[in-house]
Amino acid sequence: VADAATAAARAAELIAARVVAGRARVLGLATGGTMVPLYAHLVAAVRAGRLSLSAVTSFNLDEYVGVAPQMPASFHAYMRLHLLDEADLDPARAHVPDGMAPDLTAEASRYEMAITRAGGIDLQVLGIGANGHIGFNEPGSDFGSRTRVLELSEATRRANAADFPDGAVPERALTMGIATILEAREIVLLAIGAKKAAAIAAAIEGPLSPNCPASALRLHAQVRIICDKAAASQLD
Ligand code: F6R
Repeated sequence: VADAATAAARAAELIAARVVAGRARVLGLATGGTMVPLYAHLVAAVRAGRLSLSAVTSFNLDEYVGVAPQMPASFHAYMRLHLLDEADLDPARAHVPDGMAPDLTAEASRYEMAITRAGGIDLQVLGIGANGHIGFNEPGSDFGSRTRVLELSEATRRANAADFPDGAVPERALTMGIATILEAREIVLLAIGAKKAAAIAAAIEGPLSPNCPASALRLHAQVRIICDKAAASQLD
C-alpha cells in the first residue's frame, strides 16, 4: 500500500472485520513500533462502537526474560499502554509469556497448553525484524520450534536498545516458536519502512530457510503481508 498510515489502517481493518464476523475469537498479538498505530486504530474502533474486543482472548508472541511486567520496557507494559488500558479486551484473557517465571521451560509449556486450551489462535498478527525474525525467532530458528527461551541476536538487542535507557538490554526472551505461529488459522504480517525491505524480500523471494525465519510463512496457506512502499522496495 502507498504509505505507513494506510498499511496500519489496512491491518487494523482486517483484524476488526474478523473479530466482528466471529472468526477471530483468539488473537495472537505482537508488540514493537510497527504495531503502535495498528493498536491506535483498534482502540479508535472500540471507542466509536464499531468493534468490541470483550469476547476476545489474546496471546502475545513474546516477552523479555528478566524484565518485570511493571517495567516500562516489558511487553506486558506495552500491551497495557497501547491496548488493554484503552480498549475493552479483558486483561484476564490477555496472555503474555511470563519472562520472570522461575522455570522458563515450564512457563513455555504452560503457554503452549494455554493456547491449545483456548482452541488455538484464529488470527496471528506479526511484525518482522530487520533480520527476518518473527516473534523473537531469530535467524537459525528451526521451523519446527515451539515456545521456548532463546538468546537474542546482537542485531535485535541493538534495534531494541532505545527501550532500555540504562543499557541493560536483555539477552534472552521467551517466544512462541515458528511451528506455534504456523498453527494459527490465519496470519497477517505488517511491515513498515525501508529497514524492513531486505527482510521482506528474503521472506517472500529468498530461499525457504531458517536463515530468514519469516520465509517459513510460505508454508502456511492463509498469510497476508501488508507493506508500505518502502518495505516492499526490494521485491522483484
Ligand atoms: C514483537 C515481535 C517482533 C517485532 C519485530 C519488529 O512482539 O514479536 O518480532 O514484531 O521485532 O519490531 P518493530 O515493529 O519495533 O520494528
